[in-house]
Amino acid sequence: MLIGVCSVKGSPGVTTGVLAMAARWPVGDPIVIEADPAGGDLAARFRLPPTPGLVSFAAAARRQSTADLLVEHCQRLPGGLRAVIGPVAAEQARSALSVLTTRGVPALRAAASSPDSVLLVDVGRLDSSSPALPLVRGADSLIVMARPRADELSHVATLLGPVSTWTRTPGLVLVGDGYSRTEVERELKVPVMATLPDDNRGAAVLCGQDSGRGPNRSALGKAASRLARNLVAHVQPRAGGADREPSPVTAAVSSNGNGVVPR
Ligand SMILES: Nc1ncnc2c1ncn2[C@@H]1O[C@H](COP(=O)(O)OP(=O)(O)OP(=O)(O)O)[C@@H](O)[C@H]1O
Ligand SMILES: [Mg+2]
Repeated sequence: MLIGVCSVKGSPGVTTGVLAMAARWPVGDPIVIEADPAGGDLAARFRLPPTPGLVSFAAAARRQSTADLLVEHCQRLPGGLRAVIGPVAAEQARSALSVLTTRGVPALRAAASSPDSVLLVDVGRLDSSSPALPLVRGADSLIVMARPRADELSHVATLLGPVSTWTRTPGLVLVGDGYSRTEVERELKVPVMATLPDDNRGAAVLCGQDSGRGPNRSALGKAASRLARNLVAHVQPRAGGADREPSPVTAAVSSNGNGVVPR
């Protein structure tokens, strides 16, 4: 299963949310892929070397595209999560992503279609010109995370249409305080897949800055667990890889062109 997660403006907490979801994924041993064209944060947050990671994966993908290639370029974060670490420098991230666009997508799809495999791809801010888009175009689900504030939501409104053409199961996830879920649903005319709370301590632990309550006990971890279970329940990975065609269920809820998975 391949799940992309993105923002459209600001820093709503995509990287943190992806780690929280991966930490609370109900089955298997998910892999977080840090594919943010603006550069990665995990190496600095967890004081990890940049290799193996996205750059070494891109170099290897020039030569082969086997399902286990991605696994070979993972590191374990403190706490045990597997991650393909992005380079800190945006320029390096963009050049790795441009290689992956032509050579890495088959390796990614092969890894995603292995039984019980779950890839959570953090693509940072997404638009149609992002070098990370080819990695998540056709993902089993593509989630837009946003803070429920007028400025961010106006940008979200412009992204939801394209997102619904890039995945069978688009989703909108709200992070923190602001407009209520009901207000957002009324204004954007789409259901909200989930809300994640503002939880400074829980987020700090996931960012490697605090050793307090981990995702098994934090409010953020519990909300991420509900989101992960929702995805497992609603997203049916296609055998042989992801597919761009909307499923009948998603098509039914996306009659306004901004479809998102029902909660
Ligand atoms: N739910 C949350 N509650 C409180 N703080 C949060 C939450 N999620 C993230 N944060 C904090 O917000 C900051 C940005 O988070 P994060 O790096 O996950 O955002 P991002 O959307 O990935 O940003 P960028 O686009 O810059 O990569 C971090 O300091 C993180 O600890
Ligand atoms: Mg990020």
